[in-house]
Amino acid sequence: MGKSFRFLLFCLSILSVASWAVSTQQSRLLMDDFVGEYGDLAKNYTHVCHESRYALLGLDIKNFAFCDKSLSYEERAKDLVSRMTLQEKVMQSVHTASGVRRLGLPEYSWWSEALHGISNLGPGVFFDEAIPGATSFPAVILSTAAFNQTLWKTLGRVVSTEGRAMYNLGRAGLTFWSPNINVVRDTRWGRTQETSGEDPFTVGEFGVNYVRGLQDVEGTENVTDLNSRPLKVSSCCKHYAAYDIDAWLDVDRHTFDARVSEQDMKETFVSPFERCVREGDVSSVMCSFNQINGIPACSDSRLLKGVIRDEWDLHGYIVSDCYGLEVIVDNQNYLNDSKADAVAKTLQAGLDLECGHYYTDALNESVLTGKVSQYELDRALKNLYVLLLRVGYFDGIPAYESLGLKDICAADHIELAREAARQGIVLLKNDNEVLPLKPGEKITLVGPHANATQVMIGNYAGLPCKYVSPLEAFSAIANVTYATGCLDASCSNDTYFSEAKKAAKYAAVTIIFVGTDLSIEAEFIDREDFLLPGNQAELIKQVAEVSSGPVILVVLSGSNIDIAFAKNNPKISAILWVGFPGEQGGHSIADVVFGKYNPGGRLPVTWYEADYVDMLPMSSMSLRPVDELGYPGRTYKFFNGSTVYPFGYGMSYTNFSYSLTPSKISIDIDLNKFQKCRTVAYTEDQMAPSCPAVLLDDMSCDDTIEFEVAVTNVGRVDGSEVLMVYSLPPSGIVGTHIKQVIGFQKVFVAAGDTETVKFSMNACKSLRIVDSTGYSLLPSGSHTIRVGDDSNSASYSLRVKYNYN
Ligand SMILES: *[C@@H]1O[C@H](CO)[C@@H](O)[C@H](O)[C@H]1NC(C)=O
Ligand SMILES: *[C@@H]1O[C@H](CO)[C@@H](O)[C@H](O)[C@H]1NC(C)=O
Ligand SMILES: *[C@@H]1O[C@H](CO)[C@@H](O)[C@H](O)[C@H]1NC(C)=O
Ligand SMILES: *[C@@H]1O[C@H](CO)[C@@H](O)[C@H](O)[C@H]1NC(C)=O
Ligand SMILES: *[C@@H]1O[C@H](CO)[C@@H](O)[C@H](O)[C@H]1NC(C)=O
Ligand SMILES: *[C@@H]1O[C@H](CO)[C@@H](O)[C@H](O)[C@H]1NC(C)=O
Ligand SMILES: *[C@@H]1O[C@H](CO)[C@@H](O)[C@H](O)[C@H]1NC(C)=O
Ligand SMILES: *[C@@H]1O[C@H](CO)[C@@H](O)[C@H](O)[C@H]1NC(C)=O
Ligand SMILES: *[C@@H]1O[C@H](CO)[C@@H](O)[C@H](O)[C@H]1NC(C)=O
Ligand SMILES: *[C@@H]1O[C@H](CO)[C@@H](O)[C@H](O)[C@H]1NC(C)=O
Repeated sequence: MGKSFRFLLFCLSILSVASWAVSTQQSRLLMDDFVGEYGDLAKNYTHVCHESRYALLGLDIKNFAFCDKSLSYEERAKDLVSRMTLQEKVMQSVHTASGVRRLGLPEYSWWSEALHGISNLGPGVFFDEAIPGATSFPAVILSTAAFNQTLWKTLGRVVSTEGRAMYNLGRAGLTFWSPNINVVRDTRWGRTQETSGEDPFTVGEFGVNYVRGLQDVEGTENVTDLNSRPLKVSSCCKHYAAYDIDAWLDVDRHTFDARVSEQDMKETFVSPFERCVREGDVSSVMCSFNQINGIPACSDSRLLKGVIRDEWDLHGYIVSDCYGLEVIVDNQNYLNDSKADAVAKTLQAGLDLECGHYYTDALNESVLTGKVSQYELDRALKNLYVLLLRVGYFDGIPAYESLGLKDICAADHIELAREAARQGIVLLKNDNEVLPLKPGEKITLVGPHANATQVMIGNYAGLPCKYVSPLEAFSAIANVTYATGCLDASCSNDTYFSEAKKAAKYAAVTIIFVGTDLSIEAEFIDREDFLLPGNQAELIKQVAEVSSGPVILVVLSGSNIDIAFAKNNPKISAILWVGFPGEQGGHSIADVVFGKYNPGGRLPVTWYEADYVDMLPMSSMSLRPVDELGYPGRTYKFFNGSTVYPFGYGMSYTNFSYSLTPSKISIDIDLNKFQKCRTVAYTEDQMAPSCPAVLLDDMSCDDTIEFEVAVTNVGRVDGSEVLMVYSLPPSGIVGTHIKQVIGFQKVFVAAGDTETVKFSMNACKSLRIVDSTGYSLLPSGSHTIRVGDDSNSASYSLRVKYNYN
């Protein structure tokens, strides 16, 4: 989003409606059309190529081959583009495409958002009295904590159903610029809440599943001609690439030059994008504001045309972040380019659509003065129209025509919002099994978020159907006393502490709801510390001190917070992290607290200790430790220091035990004479194998890692367990990761039962290391495959051996 939208954005995301009644009147389909002579004659259609629509416009549809369904999408798009004048083409190359009256092509607004529900952040979506809201699911970071691929795909499916229904009602586009699949290198990033956290594999896995949920039309998932594969809605993986800093001290994302090694690029920043395109068949990628090694991401033809289109074979379009070209010209002053120079370069680099208006300002001049050929513009527009054909903009998709009001905020969608949050909630502490509580106990709710509503939906939200705050949900189950203690997250003084302490004193149980909100972490707002805001920690300490009954802490936040003081305080018996849990958050938290649902979420980011932020600047891009500067590493893959809670942490109301059976414990690969052994740096005390590694590109890479895990629920209650699978490289290799996630599955196991889960993973992808120059290698030697974390795990050694002559 652009800088001019900063304030608007912030205001929009704070807006809310408490609840609304579903109107029974279904409005007709709308297609933004031509005003003037023909008025809105043709407004009653959801797609372009309608004979009667053309007739109303005084045109004969037969004259327009782009409406001829017997032709391929490529041919139709080519026909449409070839009918336009240069000026008409230019007018279609920005997010508010003007349409071409004489061709019967209406205006189209490309910018809609659907990160965790249909959002009105872009001009493509609006809410009004007839459609006052859509289901607001938890912030992505919490849905990610569920580590459940089925859930992620289901979320995508339901969000696209609401999106398509809103499109039918004239209130949304068909092109949604979601999800955000940036890997969180540094959790100070205010947009961490929008993402799937710090692990590239998890981020990629979420991206692929959410994109498939949004885009796939049932029964056509496997169509091999990807230029004609229909789409339910079009989704967009953003922001490409190495973007995870907004505003930190004097660093601004609009001018930030991310200095990134090829190693980190391959291994971390770009890897989810590759999976999004190759495995998710996403139909759009958005390039980011920042520069990468001195070149604006949207101007880099190697990154756009070279990688996304040629190497990964994107079927769809590449779009700029909003007002990103303005940023390149006016903020970065890149190469001192004029507008016409800059737009020529981005178009040439492969940028098909601009969110902004520099293409309309200057592309005609660029073409007329020979800075870029008109052919490049034709190519870009063809990508756009093939996409709009696939998503049914010209012909409609019969299966979705009947979606409407009844499909927005439907009961099962609201139930899914509740389900997603409780699947993600992470139990961090539970002394003496204080949780779950028995219903009916007298409970005191304290803290700035005890009656949270808007706070629960985080950023990139829309307007929810209806909020259920913790106070409302708990009041329906128990006898509740409420005393806020602090009016809001900033908790700037202790004026209301005494009230809260009085209420806590004789309560059977006290639950304290604390955390951040969008004034602490959001787009444009990075954090400078990992502490609870204001006097919240003091409130917790004082309330815990006076409480006679057990104290439970519930943390709402989009990222890690140093709550070591609470973890170590014996008066605080239990701690839950609930992210930003969405419009049903109150119910989801109550479901967990009262044991209606046994929590099984896992942390998707490392919970660092507070002094971590003093050890390295947010602007250093390296994932690995930088010994010369004394910087520690980042993420569980490269940070070896102590933490408040590690990545992947999360408890349950029961316990599980694992038994692991590998199907083979060695992989032997015969090399031919064209496959070379590569060196790998080993520590001095460790002898390197005679053939230390081979390039992945040189191998067929069809070996798999296969094993079974028997999971036994050894406790007294049913529960779901996330089986996290890591690979650890052979010991002694210098400068590689400590471990890396290579897979996970969530499995439900009834108390006393055992379930067997099978894993099968590609050996090259799962055991690879990326060397300092960016080569992907499969090292020989003894790798470790581990299921689970430090406190509960099972593992085996897997030997990789090269046979060569
Ligand atoms: C649109 O459809 C409605 C309902 O069918 C009808 O009443 C209205 O006249 C139509 N409007 C136009 C401009 O055709
Ligand atoms: C698509 O392929 C997957 C994997 O082979 C299969 O499970 C699925 O049933 C197929 N879908 C259709 C519609 O053929
Ligand atoms: C940048 O461009 C402006 C306008 O074209 C020109 O006046 C100025 O000299 C240029 N500066 C540099 C450093 O090239
Ligand atoms: C390009 O289009 C803009 C906006 O319509 C117009 O102001 C400008 O004169 C055009 N330039 C050329 C060279 O045609
Ligand atoms: C809880 O929040 C709602 C919505 O903001 C508000 O209407 C209500 O008065 C609050 N309840 C209390 C007890 O403060
Ligand atoms: C809640 O507790 C108070 C004080 O003990 C009591 O007066 C009230 O009746 C209880 N309310 C409910 C709904 O149980
Ligand atoms: C304490 O904070 C509240 C809410 O922010 C504010 O209204 C009040 O004036 C503050 N009181 C003092 C003594 O600063
Ligand atoms: C952790 O990493 C640092 C920086 O590379 C290194 O100096 C230190 O020895 C490591 N500590 C452990 C316990 O491995
Ligand atoms: C799980 O196992 C740990 C370690 O044996 C034990 O302390 C704890 O009470 C068990 N928890 C449950 C819920 O059974
Ligand atoms: C994963 O999510 C789906 C969809 O919500 C749910 O039906 C399923 O039970 C979940 N799996 C586990 C093991 O919890």
